[in-house]
Amino acid sequence: MKVLVVGGGGREHALCWKLAQSPILTKLWCAPGNAGITDVAECVAIGAEDVPALVAFAKAQGVDLVVAGPEAPLVLGLADACIEAGIKVFGPTRAAAALEGSKGFMKDVVAAAGIPTAWYKRFTDADAARAFIREKGAPIVVKTDGLAAGKGVTVAMNVEEALAAVDAMMADKAFGSAGDEVVIEEYLEGEEVSLFALCDGRTAVYFGAAQDHKRVGDGDTGPNTGGMGAYSPAPVATPALEAEIMDRIMAPAVAAMAGRGMPYTGVLFAGVMVTADGPKLLEFNVRFGDPECQVLMARLSSDLLPILAAAAAGKLDGITPAWSDQAAMVVVMAANGYPGAYAKGSVIGGLGRAGAVDGVTVFHAGTTSGPGGAVLAAGGRVLGVTASGATVREARDRAYAAIDRLEWPEGFCRRDIGWRAIAAETA
Ligand code: AMP
Ligand code: GLY
Repeated sequence: MKVLVVGGGGREHALCWKLAQSPILTKLWCAPGNAGITDVAECVAIGAEDVPALVAFAKAQGVDLVVAGPEAPLVLGLADACIEAGIKVFGPTRAAAALEGSKGFMKDVVAAAGIPTAWYKRFTDADAARAFIREKGAPIVVKTDGLAAGKGVTVAMNVEEALAAVDAMMADKAFGSAGDEVVIEEYLEGEEVSLFALCDGRTAVYFGAAQDHKRVGDGDTGPNTGGMGAYSPAPVATPALEAEIMDRIMAPAVAAMAGRGMPYTGVLFAGVMVTADGPKLLEFNVRFGDPECQVLMARLSSDLLPILAAAAAGKLDGITPAWSDQAAMVVVMAANGYPGAYAKGSVIGGLGRAGAVDGVTVFHAGTTSGPGGAVLAAGGRVLGVTASGATVREARDRAYAAIDRLEWPEGFCRRDIGWRAIAAETA
């Protein structure tokens, strides 16, 4: 099969790395890709959000399957355009991608389907939103309806903070039109877990669980990021809990979307809070997590390509992906300053030596090729150093051994990824 992966981050490197191992793959492209992806796929200079150019390329090359990495092209209608052109696509249509693209829509679908989640109310009027916050009190959560590059959520511990979030989102337009509408919802307390399901429009198949670290600093402190590291399996995600999330969250969501005439195809990523009252849905994403995807690909023992193709073809029924018993961890190396301002263009040394550590694969998240084969930093999150091991602790030790071989003073990482899982392993 000829496959085009859309995107150019660590998630897409991991997907390409896994797809490249498939015996049924004949050609793999990635648009736009990055310096690491060139090892396993041919990178094409088309932006991930240039839907017409992506579809034209896929058509011209006779691509059999388009695999969407990030959410933005899906929200822009990549899957619809592929379907229109007669090309199989792994990823939801624009209508179905609203499960991530509009928090209000997601909450409406989820509430109508009886899926356990935080109570909520949607607002387009700032005064009404403020009055609701005063009535409910804190802690309370304020979210922009639309996509805001992962920054549209305020978990407010007091009423003033929640009111300030409404001002920023609705009055000051800090997130542009994403904040024209806000969702105000119940604050949930517990441990978070990310669960993934592959969907073919009707069926949802379990596809792994992971935990990530969103804060930039050790001890889960400092500002939020796209994710500084992740590991799988996550001790909190027991088989019983995973089965409950599949039964009470994933399966009803896929049924509800089909019932609304917008069948969901692709990967559904549920951010779940494990509360004292059981698992409750925080959010859906319509893509693999980044960096969660890196650890899922490290642990998947099945061939990925036929599974993604089956999802795109509506034929997932009866498919059960197989997983390694090994644990996996990814530690993100980011450019100094991230998630604030950071410099681009520094040279990353020691990649070969780092990748030679037993069980380690270095996925590139934001890199570009420089003169003489140099690898240059080109993003905030730059590398995802991924390791397998018998335990999360062993995976962690290998990942940090690899990181210690890197020569890149312009970058940093958290030193405590997996602390929760390692504490559980030790207990
Ligand atoms: P999101 O952008 O929806 O992933 O939200 C970002 C983070 O905010 C989540 O990973 C949670 O840590 C937190 N969060 C979102 N919704 C809630 C909620 N209802 N209660 C508590 N924390 C939340
Ligand atoms: N790592 C969190 C996300 O991909 O949204």
